[in-house]
Amino acid sequence: METPADPFYRQLPKVELHAHLNGSVSSETMEQLIARKPQLNIEHSMTAIRSGQRRTLDECFQVFKVIHQLVDSEEDILMVAKAVIQEFAADGVKYLELRSTPREETKTGLSKRRYVETVIEAIHQCKQEGVDIDVRFLVAIDRRNGTKVAMETVKLAEDFMLSSNGVVVGLDLSGDPTVGHGRDLLPALQKARNCGLKLALHLSEIPSQKEESELLLDLPPDRIGHGTFLHPEVGGSDTLVDKVCKQKIPIELCLTSNVTGQTVPSYDQHHFKYWYTRGHPCVLCTDDKGVFCTDLSQEYQLAASTFRLSQEDVWDLSQQAIHCSFAPEPVKQQLEQKWAKLRPVCLMSDTDEPSTPPLFYMDVPSRPALTSVLEKENG
Ligand code: IMP
Ligand code: ZN
Repeated sequence: METPADPFYRQLPKVELHAHLNGSVSSETMEQLIARKPQLNIEHSMTAIRSGQRRTLDECFQVFKVIHQLVDSEEDILMVAKAVIQEFAADGVKYLELRSTPREETKTGLSKRRYVETVIEAIHQCKQEGVDIDVRFLVAIDRRNGTKVAMETVKLAEDFMLSSNGVVVGLDLSGDPTVGHGRDLLPALQKARNCGLKLALHLSEIPSQKEESELLLDLPPDRIGHGTFLHPEVGGSDTLVDKVCKQKIPIELCLTSNVTGQTVPSYDQHHFKYWYTRGHPCVLCTDDKGVFCTDLSQEYQLAASTFRLSQEDVWDLSQQAIHCSFAPEPVKQQLEQKWAKLRPVCLMSDTDEPSTPPLFYMDVPSRPALTSVLEKENG
């Protein structure tokens, strides 16, 4: 990460709902992993994409293969998961839903069950150590691995949903969008839904997934990851948009990830604008903060500067994310209380005469005004 976000964004209490564990490993932790495994000859430049650089989606997925070589034992997973949780907490994230694909590694004796248990152990240890963050876990299906593995993953997720004391709350569908078809995963996803797992599905990450998105939206998912090509302006369709809007399915939006992976040409053309100006629930997320060298504060700042959001707008975005989470209702209420307490610390009303220089000031339009600005820009 090159430049930290401004204090306002760092102090803002935040909710992170789309973070892949192995994509979130910081450069500091990566240094330790590389030092532990010198025989792999992995250099730091192979595990992260510096800001301003662009990669094809395929190149981004190659990076995960390298990281997986470095994180292949219980010990590694425990270290990585604890560090990632602590880093999100240090960035002002108060509620985090981590997701990860359980892997087995014969070399180290790691099983998929132990993989999930180790992530849960990391979450417990952070809680015991007093890290100020509530963490939940989504078990991920890698679409590349097909029907049978997807079904096994759902079974694993269901077992942990019942035995983890509320830590495992749902299922993620992710992996290289150019590989496999969602139709083959439908039975597994339906089973997951029926047993009470929440569904966060990567959807329409690339233009060719229209048919798949139609199918998956009928489940329906509880949240959409990216949804880059859903809307008609980029080759999606009104039918897809209607399905998303009617069911008010929140969309997890990851600006840096999409621009770096070149599925979105530039920040100002990010589909955040399309959904946000329609008042649809949007949640800013990092996706892979380690790989894309970002953090959630930076993503908020980026959205604010690109789309001219006021502090109030930014606050509302972060608060709205509470209700898009898979947290149980009492936890959402506790988070609401936390936000209410922190609001006067973070936001200063226009009439307040600041005794110290404001943390952040930008004379920008509020949300209705933003809508009209964008409408004018779009002719
Ligand atoms: P892990 O599941 O903790 O190992 O995190 C890395 C994995 O997350 C990758 O191997 C992909 O399967 C998935 N992933 C990370 N970022 C993306 C994305 O932008 N689209 C789809 N899948 C992703
Ligand atoms: Zn993702």
